[in-house]
Amino acid sequence: MSPSRRSPAATGNLLYAQSGGVTAVINATAAGVIEAARGKGVKVYAARNGILGALREELIDTSKESAAAIAALRHTPGGAFGSCRYKLKSLQDNRAEYERLIEVFRAHDIRWFLYNGGNDSADTALKLSQIGKALGYDIRCIGVPKTVDNDLAVTDCCPGFGSVAKYTAISTLEASLDVASMADTSTKVFILEVMGRHAGWIAAAAGLAGEGADAPPHLILFPENAFDEAAFLAKVKATVERVGWCTVVASEGVRNAAGQFLAEAGTRDAFGHSQLGGVAPVLAALVKAKLGYKYHWALPDYLQRSARHAASQVDAEQAYAVGKAAVDYALAGMNAVMPVIVRTADAPYRWKIEPAPLAKIANREKKMPKNFISRDGFGITAAARRYLAPLIRGEAPLPYGKDGLPRYVRLKNTAVTKKLMAFGR
Ligand code: F6P
Repeated sequence: MSPSRRSPAATGNLLYAQSGGVTAVINATAAGVIEAARGKGVKVYAARNGILGALREELIDTSKESAAAIAALRHTPGGAFGSCRYKLKSLQDNRAEYERLIEVFRAHDIRWFLYNGGNDSADTALKLSQIGKALGYDIRCIGVPKTVDNDLAVTDCCPGFGSVAKYTAISTLEASLDVASMADTSTKVFILEVMGRHAGWIAAAAGLAGEGADAPPHLILFPENAFDEAAFLAKVKATVERVGWCTVVASEGVRNAAGQFLAEAGTRDAFGHSQLGGVAPVLAALVKAKLGYKYHWALPDYLQRSARHAASQVDAEQAYAVGKAAVDYALAGMNAVMPVIVRTADAPYRWKIEPAPLAKIANREKKMPKNFISRDGFGITAAARRYLAPLIRGEAPLPYGKDGLPRYVRLKNTAVTKKLMAFGR
């Protein structure tokens, strides 16, 4: 399907919603949306907690926020309007939800819907773009890319990823300096667990911390490869014997040959508790049991995707740019598209934004290509480095107060008066 265009509605409001796991820069996208729409005289409503806010008619009037507050979104992590994990069923299975959304849109004269999320959200935006026509309501839907997992199809990279990649590379570098200092008499193995349930992009980014056999990370474990215990232990041992210490970066999505998440395979963590999540303690226990090395492990969890203090400038700029482009596309009458990032050069890195059909993005998952993972399965290749390196470049300015803390903004989030009965009553 190619991006469809319809004649733009003369007037109306724009609804913006955040969806799925939030990032250090998703609010930069919100700023891009709101500032671009304001510049064109269009009012932006935001849905409270993603699509749920639209279903519940819980809308926020962003025109009540000052220009300074909206500008401060550019450096504030988290989701300023709240997000949700909620996948709409298919049109056939739950048409009522789609009809409700159109009812809310109609009640508040919403003519443009911008959904900021990953592949599930692209699917929702696509479905809504189709049902508007069927129900005789002129609504244009634009998907806006976001996910730390970097697994959206078509776009070269996803806003949110560059910053988590930078945090991961920096943390790998810094923790490795620590373990190197301690290795003679104390810790020999450090294990960092990073996000990315099905794709190893974040784990791969740790590889930017160093290059060469002796530089950390010495092993990266990707969800794309089945975990090979014997090969893992052999490489950890060889590294400790050669270098004196070893840094391992593991994706939370590492699975065994049977396809089970390692942490769900009936294994026990370092405390003897059975693991329901957390691959790092499982690996640490294995290292201790089989090799006898002292270890430390870390699970940065939400720290990694909210670490605005270590955000990438490229990522922050791209996040803002996709928000602005989404407004341009919507107001130009486009429907069922997503602004995607197109890489036009590696060195110097250049990129541009283009519209791509949501149908090519919805429900697809982009994994690490085979030629990005080294032959032994534990590292990244030069091609991966070429791809990843530009995405973590530059630091994104962050104002700090006298108290030493970042000046993050908290919006007023003024509710729009409801006009409808509660959904489902
Ligand atoms: O949005 C992607 C992601 O950050 C994954 O990498 C991670 O597994 C997941 O979200 C965590 O989701 P939640 O915050 O809903 O627990």
